[in-house]
Amino acid sequence: MFPAQIVSNASGRWGSYRVPLPVEDRPRWQKGEIVGTSIAILLYRVCRCCRRIYVKLFHTIFHALAIPCIVVGFIAVLDSHNLNPGGAIPNFYSLHSWMGLVTMGLFALQFVVGFFSFLILLCCEGATAAFRASLVPIHATFGITTFMLAVATCLTGLTEKAIFGLGKKYSSLPEEALILNALAMVLTAGAIVVAYIIMKDDFKYRGHILITAQGD
Ligand code: HEM
Repeated sequence: MFPAQIVSNASGRWGSYRVPLPVEDRPRWQKGEIVGTSIAILLYRVCRCCRRIYVKLFHTIFHALAIPCIVVGFIAVLDSHNLNPGGAIPNFYSLHSWMGLVTMGLFALQFVVGFFSFLILLCCEGATAAFRASLVPIHATFGITTFMLAVATCLTGLTEKAIFGLGKKYSSLPEEALILNALAMVLTAGAIVVAYIIMKDDFKYRGHILITAQGD
């Protein structure tokens, strides 16, 4: 698959020898993103006995792992549109693409603000403790919103795939449709479980006071 693509796209408009990323791999990257983000979010509930600074670092690392998944998935879909052998397909016209853009924007904002506020500002931990503590609920709300939007974007993507890929065959529920629907159900179940764990008071980390006591 890859060598053939290299040859057939050797004069692609994105540059002479750029290897287009196969769009078939995109759902895998998206799953990687959702899994990385879910683990990152749940860390604050799972690692309740660890020092907060370690949890923060792992929270950041797992979110950072989602970044290549987002970038590769994004480039793959641009490639599949711009280098389509039957003629370029327009970009950013569908609901799925708009939701994807909003999700990527929110994710980037969350990451940058979280990184600077909760890690870099630790340089002046005493002076910034009140600010960091006041930012936690805002960050948590936008964080779970970003996660839900990522899941919703995947669901609209799967719907698009079913309608464009299977067309009228979709209603007769062939094997591909079953796989698509099952994947959508797994994503939905994951979103419900993550939301439940995040919202449930019993699972909450009770050490916010440690922001000042431990200085992290
Ligand atoms: C796109 C990136 C990010 C997303 C989607 C995100 C999402 C979230 C979510 C959903 C929560 C709530 C978790 C809970 O209530 O247990 C949270 C908490 C938190 N995040 Fe992030 N986060 C991101 C990046 C970061 C970064 C880079 C840092 C830097 C250290 C960070 C630091 C924190 C802290 C300190 C909390 C508070 C935990 C607590 O005390 O309850 N986040 N984040």
